[in-house]
Amino acid sequence: EEFGDLVAALPSRQQSILELRLYQGFWLPEHWVPGTIVFQRRFTPRPDDVILASYPKCGTTWLKALAFATAARTAYPPGGARHPLRRLNPHDCVPFIDEIFASGEEAKLEALPSPRLMNTHLPYALLPAPVTATATGCRVAYVCRDPKDMVVSLWHFLRRAKPDLLFADTFESVCDGTVVVGPVWDHVLSYWRASVAAPDRALFLRYEDMLRDPGGNVRRLAEFMGRPFSAAEEAAGDVAAVVELCSFDEMKGLEVNRPGSGTAGRYRPMPRDAFFRKGVAGDWANHMTPEMAARLDGIFREKLQGTGLIFS
Ligand code: A3P
Repeated sequence: EEFGDLVAALPSRQQSILELRLYQGFWLPEHWVPGTIVFQRRFTPRPDDVILASYPKCGTTWLKALAFATAARTAYPPGGARHPLRRLNPHDCVPFIDEIFASGEEAKLEALPSPRLMNTHLPYALLPAPVTATATGCRVAYVCRDPKDMVVSLWHFLRRAKPDLLFADTFESVCDGTVVVGPVWDHVLSYWRASVAAPDRALFLRYEDMLRDPGGNVRRLAEFMGRPFSAAEEAAGDVAAVVELCSFDEMKGLEVNRPGSGTAGRYRPMPRDAFFRKGVAGDWANHMTPEMAARLDGIFREKLQGTGLIFS
């Protein structure tokens, strides 16, 4: 309430089910703006925090599962039948910062024991200064994805809440940047630059790389988190066990993730099965004309020109 006037003064746009406000260069869901301000002003990172970051629909659920399984592997061996990820959706294991601050429940994050694992969809540029500052900051692991597959995934996801949503609407809003936490290119670029500047503080992962080499990326993640797999763990097959535990088929098949099993996310709950659709690279070819694909690729090429970051 304290921020009502500030929010009302921000440029607004409607995108499918969401009312967006332009805050510090990004189109945030309106209900996130006050929480984001509080996050920026009051969040105190701990040196051993790991924040998982992503643009929506780029592999958040998978990254949450992999990071949770990696971080918790002493208490919960990844091959164990009683692992929490065999009965819980990853979104119920790793708290979502943006939603927690949006509902004024930040004390819940403070109450978490260290090392904390949390996630955000905010761009790097909007993270609190103490998070990104060299002296006080923590680690941030980001996952990105081919924007063409992201658009397809986003459309399917939004359609769960708005069945008559046209693919062309979602596509156009991504192309012109007025999409949730967009522009997407600025989102990706903010983390890319952070990872180039300080690779020990910001890890940049790609969904397609993770599909190609899940084990290699789990090792990268574990090292980045300060929890590399030991020779004994390697010999015991723990990396493969994490990959298997978090695989698309394994997670989609869980009772908790079946259609009709309930929702994840408290502020804007979505059916849990909505987080597991196809889990592949290249599904864009089933939704876009070659012209649309070339247009989106062209926009990203132009926006990312000279940055060293390339999609296609
Ligand atoms: P598709 O819609 O292309 O299938 P997010 O988790 O950021 O919301 O992204 C969701 C996308 O990741 C969906 O893509 C979903 O199917 C895919 N996904 C979810 N869990 C996965 C897993 N364990 N392995 C690979 N992909 C996964």
